[in-house]
Amino acid sequence: MNILILGAGGREHTIAWKLKQSQTPTQLFVAPGNAGTAAWATNLALSVTDFPAIKQAAIAHEIQMLVVGPEDPLVHGIHDFFLADPALKDIPVIGPQKAAAALEGSKDFAKQFLTRHQIPTAAYQAFTAENVEAGYAFLDSLKAPYVLKADGLAAGKGVLILEDLDQAKTELKNMLLGAKFGAASSRVVIEEFLDGIELSCFVLTDGKNYKVLPTAKDYKRIGAGDTGLNTGGMGAISPVPFADATFMEKIHSRVIEPTIKGLAKDGLPYKGFIFIGLIKVGEEPYVIEYNVRLGDPETEVVLPRLQTDLVALFKAVAEERLDRVSLEIDPRTATTVMSVAGGYPEAYEKGHEIQGLDHDTDSLLFHAGTTLKEGKVCTNGGRVLAVTSFGADYKAALATSYKTLEGISFKDIYYRKDLGFDLN
Ligand code: AMP
Ligand code: GLY
Repeated sequence: MNILILGAGGREHTIAWKLKQSQTPTQLFVAPGNAGTAAWATNLALSVTDFPAIKQAAIAHEIQMLVVGPEDPLVHGIHDFFLADPALKDIPVIGPQKAAAALEGSKDFAKQFLTRHQIPTAAYQAFTAENVEAGYAFLDSLKAPYVLKADGLAAGKGVLILEDLDQAKTELKNMLLGAKFGAASSRVVIEEFLDGIELSCFVLTDGKNYKVLPTAKDYKRIGAGDTGLNTGGMGAISPVPFADATFMEKIHSRVIEPTIKGLAKDGLPYKGFIFIGLIKVGEEPYVIEYNVRLGDPETEVVLPRLQTDLVALFKAVAEERLDRVSLEIDPRTATTVMSVAGGYPEAYEKGHEIQGLDHDTDSLLFHAGTTLKEGKVCTNGGRVLAVTSFGADYKAALATSYKTLEGISFKDIYYRKDLGFDLN
């Protein structure tokens, strides 16, 4: 089966790795891919949002399934584009249609969905340049800290959490009137701050039926103890130790069930992954956000724990028969540690050779930002390499990832050495 995966990061490398293990022989293509995917797949040098180029590639390589890694093509309607084209319409796409992808593409849309279906989430209001004064008044009515969210996609940077009321008002003005995040902040969601511990839950749905994948927790800040700037993600742990059976039952009944039913009720076509960002406040789950794809680096711990054939699962999604497959999950804990280029998430260098990739280790190496230069694997992004390991618990798994990382080097390599610090 010929499968095209869109994306270039650790998530896509992991998806390719998992598809490659299928009972169904596959010929994998990744656009644009990285040095890791080049090992078992054909990389295609095209942009994930260049739909005409994707169409050409799909025809040229006789693609029989499209798996979409990142949100951008989904929010811009890649699934609808395939459905509307006579030459592509029979190729199943894993990833929701545009109307449903707005759950990630617009925070206001997501909040309206959550409210309409009575799914627990922080109280909120949305504002535009026309009613910025009402936004200031709403901020006056809230307690610090203040949470401001650009409505649209802002490459993970559109959320500001501020302690000071005047600063919150200034930032609201910058977002609405100064286009701080461009068009993405022409609408801003202001919401109540929720104090708790975060976790992510992943669901695969065919629009009617669904399967719940393992939970995971990622570490977004660059520095030890969750300090410093936000990043794309510095590591992840699955399962999340504090998500016990009672708490998972609450997530199922209060969040997942009403989400799937809500999609059907609202006529939002969804075949793909739903990533539910949750926060545990006391003993209750609240939804922080929806993403319409898998997370990165959460994928690097979630898919290695999945023992079910991923091609079979995706076929079941396409044919709306997910109710007839069962998931097998590895009971062990998986952890991934992301190594990054010095300076990231601010300015960093690219193009340095990575050493130690050929050593025998007890870990799985998923490439995030790498490329092949004259046959050598070189750094090509801020997040470079995710090192995934299994263990009886997260401490044992992390110890293996850290041991593997001792044998890997590139110029100014950095990784967090305190993952799981908050789980004791
Ligand atoms: P989002 O892009 O919506 O996931 O927001 C980015 C991060 O901001 C989340 O992962 C949380 O750490 C934090 N955050 C977002 N909304 C809230 C909230 N209402 N209360 C507390 N923290 C929040
Ligand atoms: N790790 C967070 C994300 O993929 O958005």
